[in-house]
Amino acid sequence: MHKGQTMNDLPVLRTKVPGPKSRTLARRLRRHEAPTVTCLTGKGPIFWKRAEGVHVWDVDGNRFLDLTSAFGVASLGHSHPEVVAAIHKQSALLCHGMGDVHPSEAKTRLCARLSEITFERWSHGRCGGQALLCNSGFEAVEAALKTAMLFTRKRGVIVFEGAYHGLGYGALETTWRRDFRLPFAEQLGGFAEFVPYPRQSSAAADRAGAPTAEIPLLSAIEGQILGVLRRREIGAILVEPFQGRAGEVIPPPGFIPMLRRICDRHRLLLIADEIYVGFWRTGRWFAVEHSGVTPDLICLGKALSGCLPISACVGKAGVMAAWPVSQGEALHTSTFGGNPLACAAALASIRQFERRAASWDVTQKGAEFVGELRRLLAGNPWVRDIRGVGLLIGIEFAANGPVQPPILCERLLDRGLIALPSGSRAEALAITPPLCMDARTLSWAARQTAEVVSGATSAAIKRRVR
Ligand SMILES: Cc1ncc(COP(=O)(O)O)c(C=O)c1O
Repeated sequence: MHKGQTMNDLPVLRTKVPGPKSRTLARRLRRHEAPTVTCLTGKGPIFWKRAEGVHVWDVDGNRFLDLTSAFGVASLGHSHPEVVAAIHKQSALLCHGMGDVHPSEAKTRLCARLSEITFERWSHGRCGGQALLCNSGFEAVEAALKTAMLFTRKRGVIVFEGAYHGLGYGALETTWRRDFRLPFAEQLGGFAEFVPYPRQSSAAADRAGAPTAEIPLLSAIEGQILGVLRRREIGAILVEPFQGRAGEVIPPPGFIPMLRRICDRHRLLLIADEIYVGFWRTGRWFAVEHSGVTPDLICLGKALSGCLPISACVGKAGVMAAWPVSQGEALHTSTFGGNPLACAAALASIRQFERRAASWDVTQKGAEFVGELRRLLAGNPWVRDIRGVGLLIGIEFAANGPVQPPILCERLLDRGLIALPSGSRAEALAITPPLCMDARTLSWAARQTAEVVSGATSAAIKRRVR
């Protein structure tokens, strides 16, 4: 333990992981849930009972440290008291409204807040935004795709290798991973055109501000995009400003400005998918802000409410005007869209981000975590890259090497740390803890992670020698 570290921060394990109750639940779930959903192979999952702040308790009474924010949702920490209080308050009044017919006050306030924290803030009040509220992230992406279709009347969309935009049919068309697409390929729309996503190498990251290193790569990608524009009708570019599920990939600084320039020259819409990286994950309100670029549409979800299913496609008012005015039948809506409980949670979350985010030192803590890991894992033959921006951190391993992130996650779980593999071949370990996790706990987690990686490396070397 670190000097000053209290036992209150660290995991407490009372059983083997997973414990007996988790294993019993796994057997039940296997019988009753569609087989594709929960991974019940290998050691099996822990079943969550309670979560608070940076901790999760399982049904066996074990307390874990969450290094995932539960898919990037609990950025404020689990069960944030102000968010929970807002849900309680709202639930005493109205749990469900008639979203697009007789809306709630909460929905009205949330749409206004979303405009304030995006387009109004970016334009210093000169230009407003309008929101289309949905339930999950992929729906917000599909709302953005529909908006682009209506605005530009062009069906083609440029997307990026490695991209993850969700699994609904529209979003799946723009998601890169072959294993997700292949079984449904015949039903996909064929409107997406993939081009490479540039990577900032570690060395380049260390020399931040050395833009020459990125020029050939970016110009090659620009050339490919221009080639696509010559042969297809394209209406939009859909991009994750930092790729999340591709392995926490950081592009060179000139990338998003280059896309903005292309969009402006060719009258395309720039859609930023910030479902994973929005809301201070990277040390700014939104990840596009690192590049100084204003997108035409931004997709938000996950940390927007921090717990309840709600997402949003927010667009420049002039772009959203492409949607026809509802005469009683909304052209895009859903039964639970703009659910008042979820809106209340989102409003409370936004309030917390506004009040507290600056004090979390996300950038500093992320840099320290990456620095500590780089130091501890220097010279490790299978570590390809350790990178991060804010608390979006990825450790990439040699793709077919002996050190595999899914196994590392099991070893971390044995020590009471919840982490996730990332990347299309699970080649990276993703570290995306709640933003409020304190520096000491993060440093302890970095040392645990390094020990687990080093342990797996030594075991692999021994196997080879034998
Ligand atoms: C960048 C991005 N877009 C879209 C999605 C899809 O969100 P959801 O799973 O809520 O549909 C995700 C999910 O991880 C994501 O990371």
